[in-house]
Amino acid sequence: MHTLAQSTQWVGLTRNAAIELGQFGIRCELCCTLFGSKPLWLAPHLRWGKERFAKEQVVSYLRPRTLHKQFCNLGSDESRLEGKVALITGGAGGIGSRTAKLFSQNGAKVVIADLNEEIGQAVCKELGPQGATFIHCDVTKEDNVQNAVDATVSKYGKLDIMFNNAGIMELPKPSIVETEKSDFERVLSTNVIGVFLGTKHAARVMIPARRGSIINTSSIASIMGGITPHAYTSSKHAVVGLTTNAAIELGQFGVRVNCVAPHVVPTPMSTSLFKMGEEELAERVHSCSILKGISLKAEDIAEAALFLGSDESRYVNGHNLVVDGGYTVTNPTLIDALTS
Ligand SMILES: NC(=O)c1ccc[n+]([C@@H]2O[C@H](COP(=O)([O-])OP(=O)(O)OC[C@H]3O[C@@H](n4cnc5c(N)ncnc54)[C@H](O)[C@@H]3O)[C@@H](O)[C@H]2O)c1
Repeated sequence: MHTLAQSTQWVGLTRNAAIELGQFGIRCELCCTLFGSKPLWLAPHLRWGKERFAKEQVVSYLRPRTLHKQFCNLGSDESRLEGKVALITGGAGGIGSRTAKLFSQNGAKVVIADLNEEIGQAVCKELGPQGATFIHCDVTKEDNVQNAVDATVSKYGKLDIMFNNAGIMELPKPSIVETEKSDFERVLSTNVIGVFLGTKHAARVMIPARRGSIINTSSIASIMGGITPHAYTSSKHAVVGLTTNAAIELGQFGVRVNCVAPHVVPTPMSTSLFKMGEEELAERVHSCSILKGISLKAEDIAEAALFLGSDESRYVNGHNLVVDGGYTVTNPTLIDALTS
């Protein structure tokens, strides 16, 4: 179909342009809709009139205003989560705490669920007693996750956003032969079972409400191999699989499930893994990045989570939102080898 061929060209052009223009700090993205605001090109193929097309429940009509809001209006409003209630696992950590702050600034009530009570309480104190609450929670334990969800609902009356963000990484080993089964299981237990339990218990309260946004933290290690240790890479691939499955099941109840996939961000996790300070880590990542002039910060991941949690993304479901400045769009090694 003419239009499909066109769309494919746009993807290719967008990817290429992103690589070239990224070095000047210019980003290229493609906005992809199911059927756009004026589906006149599709209607004749289906032999339906425009009215029937709009009426058929096969597609839910995505209005131009939604698109405009999704891509033109971001960041302009400080109350994008007004009236919403969010539960953030790993909310005491680098990405989680920045997200808690941004969600709170945007009008959400936030519950931080984490193992680290001291830092979690400190983050809540900063946000004020009206804006945030801490709850001790080990995401590998079902009763803890169940309790965190129930406590959120009993305090604030509902749960709109579940951010399954808690995660750990094992120490890299030179070979899979030296990787211990117990280390592998420990990472899967937090990164996969934790996300499963968070999704399950959030769904339990979101299904009857017929709304909600579940956001899982994956990683660029969810779409690439070889950059993180085996268990971590496996776990992040699994998070995307679980997200896709849950998005399909829960979509029928109006509950969206998406991932945010960060590149390397300076946080306690990454600085301890690479054994360097935040500044040095940011510089090294920037040196091999596609998008120049910007260093990725935890705040950027929080912004992506804010988009997925807000109504601006109300038709985005089953998506793995990669925040990597275009890093995973290309593999420069071939061109480097051929041209150096
Ligand atoms: N920092 C990066 O470069 C990077 C890149 C890609 C993805 N991620 C992912 O982002 C998420 C957040 O990572 P971060 O960089 O902010 O790490 P972080 O270490 O700063 O924070 C992680 C938080 O999770 C909490 N946590 C760990 N195990 C838990 C458990 N069993 N139950 C409850 N809380 C637990 C920790 O106490 C901590 O507060 C993780 O899922 C991580 O895999 C991070």
